[in-house]
Amino acid sequence: MPFPHRHLLGLDGLGREELTFLLDTAASFKEISERDIKKVPTLRGKTVISLFYEASTRTRVSFEIAAKRMSADFVSLTAASSSATKGETLLDTARNLGAMRPDALILRHPASGAAQFLATRLDCAVINAGDGAHEHPTQALLDALTIRERKGRLEGLTVAIVGDVLHSRVARSNLFALQQLGATVRLVGPPTLLPPELRDWAECTSDLRAGVRDADVVMMLRLQLERQGKHFFPSLDEYARYFCLTQAVLAGAKPDVIIMHPGPLNRGVEIASDVADGRYSVIMDQVTNGIAVRMAILYLLASQPRSAVAPAADPLGPATDTPSAVAAVRARRRSR
Ligand code: CP
Repeated sequence: MPFPHRHLLGLDGLGREELTFLLDTAASFKEISERDIKKVPTLRGKTVISLFYEASTRTRVSFEIAAKRMSADFVSLTAASSSATKGETLLDTARNLGAMRPDALILRHPASGAAQFLATRLDCAVINAGDGAHEHPTQALLDALTIRERKGRLEGLTVAIVGDVLHSRVARSNLFALQQLGATVRLVGPPTLLPPELRDWAECTSDLRAGVRDADVVMMLRLQLERQGKHFFPSLDEYARYFCLTQAVLAGAKPDVIIMHPGPLNRGVEIASDVADGRYSVIMDQVTNGIAVRMAILYLLASQPRSAVAPAADPLGPATDTPSAVAAVRARRRSR
């Protein structure tokens, strides 16, 4: 089944077959990273640019490794080292990069909807590497791949997603993907960090022990302190007291539970060190699978001929440089 999309902006709206196809494609790329010579010519002659307006270790490096293992030419730019520091707008930066004829642009940006904003204005594939609190599609794909590898399936599993759901793009992308793939998702966190709109999508609880009970997978989320404009809980100590995953809490999960975390970890706040590094943890498997998932996405999107595409009709109106998260997401929903 060919992947019938030009961009990867989110997982909301992708069907089970499409998600399974992405996971199968990623699984087929894993073997390349186990070779002595970790290089194939798949994307020779293609150019991939990554543009990161937020810090990143895993996503940025694994996209770069993925592109290079497939022989693409890879250019990496951060906002701090770009002319954004001189006041250049996101749109102007992206247009200038687009004029250099890349085949794919990977974007991380603090504004929800930023990737969608560029996808309607550039003629290369746009890959969302995390946009505000909206989506982080490749993270959720690598999470699903890791669960499927460990459990042999996704259908019928119970996955507890715990922590700062409100600000988590990882939680949103996982919710969309896991439910589409047949898992039951429980959202667990303080009432202030459980967004009301997601209560219609999944069972929600503020009792960590109840949320983890009989779970097949416990996915801990990082507290997104940089996105929290106000106080959502009294103190980090108080948060840890009620929501830190410890061995004692874990005792209520299934005996073969797996523990996940997208990283970076706040050790002792959302996850105890002996849990993060313990026998149930698959956190490093997630990182390894990030390479295969990103190889698959680049293979499917950057290999499409540029001449076959043109910027879509702009659903957001004139090209101002104010990506409106709400407008972008609504436009995407309307277009489905
Ligand atoms: N999981 C994740 O997105 O990590 P980075 O912020 O380090 O890329």
